[in-house]
Amino acid sequence: MNQAATLKQWKAYCSFDGAAVDGQEKQSMNSSSHPRVLCFSSGKGGVGKTSIVTNLGIAMAQIGKKVLVLDADLGLANIDVMLGITPKYSIQHVFSGERSLSDVIMQGPGGIKLLPASSGIQELCHLSESEKLFLLNEFDCLEEPVDIMLIDNAAGISDTVMYFNMAAQARVIILTPEPTSITDAYALIKVLSKRYLIKEFSIVVNWTNSRQEAYKIFRQLTAVADRFLGFLSFHFLGHIPKDTSIPKSVRQQKPALELFPQSRACQGFRQLAENILNLDVSGNDGNIKFFWKNLLRL
Ligand SMILES: Nc1ncnc2c1ncn2[C@@H]1O[C@H](COP(=O)(O)OP(=O)(O)O)[C@@H](O)[C@H]1O
Ligand SMILES: [Mg+2]
Repeated sequence: MNQAATLKQWKAYCSFDGAAVDGQEKQSMNSSSHPRVLCFSSGKGGVGKTSIVTNLGIAMAQIGKKVLVLDADLGLANIDVMLGITPKYSIQHVFSGERSLSDVIMQGPGGIKLLPASSGIQELCHLSESEKLFLLNEFDCLEEPVDIMLIDNAAGISDTVMYFNMAAQARVIILTPEPTSITDAYALIKVLSKRYLIKEFSIVVNWTNSRQEAYKIFRQLTAVADRFLGFLSFHFLGHIPKDTSIPKSVRQQKPALELFPQSRACQGFRQLAENILNLDVSGNDGNIKFFWKNLLRL
């Protein structure tokens, strides 16, 4: 990876901290060039994907974005458990024709919308042509516009994990300073780059003691990837500090941004939201319908 570019990113990132967003940055936050569909994955489970995706979504909603969170993790600790909500339906009901997509999308806390998809994930990968067309039409008919969709992907390297990564516009890999989390993140990046030819990754380091520690982890990961995986592009998207407000809010089944808005973790979520909305992506392939078309074509 280009060291000068990394340093530049790092400096830009440092200058965000506590500083007022200047005119230029404000402009790009309000522009429509930020990625619309971001897929959050990790090599290892339990690294904070669901905590980050839900709170990040709320942080974006707080600055006026219409956010849809797609729960794509078949695991046990799903978003609904974390947020104390009980989905009546899943995307599976849309495939079976029992419900429309707008019946399935739920109002989550903090203004976000939630699409429970975990129990329909396997089916999603194996729909017939007519079912695919039906589902695409459902997305076309959605009344509420969506500015940004965040996918809470499962951990590991299963086919469905790959599937969502392929269709999304930006891929965010979450890891922690734990050595197994770093090696598993590397393994995931290896599969995504070698087998699926994905070349660009954004990295979020969770559960950190300091920003310096987060950046050190980022450098460790990218140094190994640069050496063994060839030319890939990595972007240090941000870090979330280790903070008891997260497990406390999980226990209370409410988002940390609602219970402990001033905590360090919540400052991190807001910062991360800004960093994402300031990302500039070119091309016009980022809208939500394009994502579904892409996904269903795979
Ligand atoms: N930054 C953090 N500081 C402290 N605890 C955290 C942090 N991030 C996540 N956790 C805790 O880790 C556990 C796993 O988080 P979760 O978001 O469910 O991970 P995943 O979705 O990757 O499996 C949760 O109990 C959560 O409270
Ligand atoms: Mg999870």
